[in-house]
Amino acid sequence: MMTFRYIPSVSKTEQNKRRRWQEVVSRTLKKIKEGQRTKVLGSEFYLCPGVFAPLWMDSMILAEVVRKEAKRGESVLDIGTGVGIQAILAAKKGAKVTATDISKKALKCAAQNIERHKLGNRVEILRSDLFSNIKNKFDLIIFNPPFRWFHARNTLERATVDRNYQVLNGFIKEAKKHLNNKGRIIMVWSSSADPAYLQQLMRKYRYRSQVLKKQKRDYGNGYMWENRVYELKPLE
Ligand SMILES: C[S@@+](CC[C@H](N)C(=O)[O-])C[C@H]1O[C@@H](n2cnc3c(N)ncnc32)[C@H](O)[C@@H]1O
Repeated sequence: MMTFRYIPSVSKTEQNKRRRWQEVVSRTLKKIKEGQRTKVLGSEFYLCPGVFAPLWMDSMILAEVVRKEAKRGESVLDIGTGVGIQAILAAKKGAKVTATDISKKALKCAAQNIERHKLGNRVEILRSDLFSNIKNKFDLIIFNPPFRWFHARNTLERATVDRNYQVLNGFIKEAKKHLNNKGRIIMVWSSSADPAYLQQLMRKYRYRSQVLKKQKRDYGNGYMWENRVYELKPLE
């Protein structure tokens, strides 16, 4: 993978706050047990040890937008599907979905959820590092990326951290090549990340964007984060 230069735009104090928050997130994810479930927008999802769980606002606010925006007959690519939440919600709207992840555990977990929701005929599962195994173009690409720019200490942490934003860079750079004419990207970003950095990348790789939804949540202990769901369209 190409290396991209990244310099945090948040202060040292804010960087440390994000490091402490990352520890809270990592500890929570490590505790996920086989058979644990969660409900999002009335649909139940099985969680799996070693796989990112949709327990925070980022997954939920994105899910709300996906449920509203995905259309019958559209081709949808869900990058980093995790337990399969966004892919399943898009498929329930009648979209034809390709759900990908770099993590084998995530793909196994997503496959189980897709089967439970009886959506095997509308969701195809594919292992891919971003677009490495993606040949097609899509009407809609969905991504809930790892938010913080730290080094991942294990495979599970690759769901929430992305060293120097290599994955984010790769995604924004490549995604436009996989969009149909009039295609769009829907992705979530958080103030618990480096909020300004996504804007920089959108300018660098020439996208226009609009905020489709935003929401703040107070997780206690001074952790108040805002999530924004963006729609991105290539400028040319
Ligand atoms: C924050 S989780 C989002 C999971 C789910 N989409 C959701 O909304 O809850 C990020 C997911 O991206 C996956 N991921 C991380 N780097 C990736 C890459 N380079 N290519 C594909 N998937 C990746 C992780 O394994 C993880 O499942």
